[in-house]
Amino acid sequence: MIELQQITKIYDNGVVGLKDITLHIEKSEFVFVVGSSGSGKSTLLKLLLKEIETTEGKILLQGQDITYLKRRKVPYLRRQMGVVFQDFRLLPNKTVYENVAFAMEIVEATPREIRRNVPMVLSMVGLARKAKSYPHQLSGGEQQRAALARAIVNNPAVLLADEPTGNLDPHTAWEIMKLLNDINHRGTTIVMATHGKEIVNAMKKRVITLENGRISRDVKKGGYEDED
Ligand SMILES: Nc1ncnc2c1ncn2[C@@H]1O[C@H](COP(=O)(O)OP(=O)(O)OP(=O)(O)O)[C@@H](O)[C@H]1O
Ligand SMILES: [Mg+2]
Repeated sequence: MIELQQITKIYDNGVVGLKDITLHIEKSEFVFVVGSSGSGKSTLLKLLLKEIETTEGKILLQGQDITYLKRRKVPYLRRQMGVVFQDFRLLPNKTVYENVAFAMEIVEATPREIRRNVPMVLSMVGLARKAKSYPHQLSGGEQQRAALARAIVNNPAVLLADEPTGNLDPHTAWEIMKLLNDINHRGTTIVMATHGKEIVNAMKKRVITLENGRISRDVKKGGYEDED
């Protein structure tokens, strides 16, 4: 599904983001990426999203080599990927409904598909009643649920999440984790960067630990640290 072969990312200023990462993620896996600040978690996600280019190595997605994908082909790639961030990144001047619908308009869904799918994902994330609200009228947890709805509305093969619970209280964070778990059970591969020790320990999913841009640990059904 996702394959990284000897990926090294060196930023323009010479900082090493990732060093010799080789990694295989299967379809429908749920993978946590953990490690201290600056260890390379966001760099890894940005490489998959093609927000940045790798310096060395190869990236394959569903068997397709995307290492040197042409710029104009990136939008096609992104159709297969949903993404959520710590700071939600909803469009402030659009309602919840419009934010989600916009993600479908970008991929040229028909008005009919939009009318059908947007309410469906909004009720899946428990936001049907907030469809007409603007982001500033929502709590943090509601904003993240809206962002999740937007991320999954085009039914992506992969969902990338960069600290999606980082700005949420523990209870709300768990609600988001339950949703991510549901989404994963529907077949979406999830790669989630997090500092959330308790969440990682409780979920018993694969845990990849980065240290200074290298993989220091990779365990199936693991915990945040070496207690397993
Ligand atoms: N655009 C950039 N230019 C130069 N260096 C960068 C850039 N982005 C990240 N880095 C550096 O790359 C390294 C990895 O950063 P990255 O953002 O991937 O860490 P992270 O694990 O996501 O950290 P955090 O937990 O704080 O989000 C750090 O040393 C960082 O300073
Ligand atoms: Mg980060």
